[in-house]
Amino acid sequence: MTDKQDHWNAVYGARTESALTWFEESPAVSREMMVQAGITPGARVLDAGGGASRLVDTLLDDGFTDLTVLDLSAEALKVSQDRLGARAKAVQWIAADITDWQPEGPYDLWHDRAVFHFLTEAADRAAYIRTLTQALRPGGVAIIGTFALDGPEKCSNLPVIRYCADGLAQELGAGFARITCRAHTHQTPMQRTQSFTFCTFRRR
Ligand SMILES: C[S@@+](CC[C@H](N)C(=O)[O-])C[C@H]1O[C@@H](n2cnc3c(N)ncnc32)[C@H](O)[C@@H]1O
Repeated sequence: MTDKQDHWNAVYGARTESALTWFEESPAVSREMMVQAGITPGARVLDAGGGASRLVDTLLDDGFTDLTVLDLSAEALKVSQDRLGARAKAVQWIAADITDWQPEGPYDLWHDRAVFHFLTEAADRAAYIRTLTQALRPGGVAIIGTFALDGPEKCSNLPVIRYCADGLAQELGAGFARITCRAHTHQTPMQRTQSFTFCTFRRR
């Protein structure tokens, strides 16, 4: 197991899901952006670094049938699996590092809330974009949410890179067309606020 995996497994092992700073009862912004991008229940969806997020619950409720949740932390995935009970069998769960994972078959949607911003090394960002490009079909949609320029400098004791919409689009490069971006303020369970930049891109 790598240090990164140890770190994230310890984080998810130490607190209940609803006490994590990134916890959200309802993934409303992600869901709204999916609707806006025309993602319907027939879509093949990957939640990249999905952790214990309730996005998968919401998508199952909405009739999605081809869902994959990938995360470095098997502990995080287990939290979601335990919460979903028998419904977890309808989801594909992958414990892997997004920077060296080999995707199988093309996805229609790549969703990442609060994962890309942890990649502070240029080589890791390049590897992420390689995986993203391999995973998405041409014309497929990526929804990526990172801390904004006035967001926190760290999360879970790890440094992050903060992005404005232009910065995120520039980082993804010419292979992705920016469709829409929005600012979002996340309210943590400790009643603090965190500024996010969320953008939707289409793979060219
Ligand atoms: C702040 S949490 C966000 C989790 C989830 N997206 C959400 O919105 O609740 C960051 C997540 O990214 C995962 N993660 C960090 N680096 C990763 C990597 N290189 N590959 C896959 N997952 C990673 C962590 O395990 C953690 O679950």
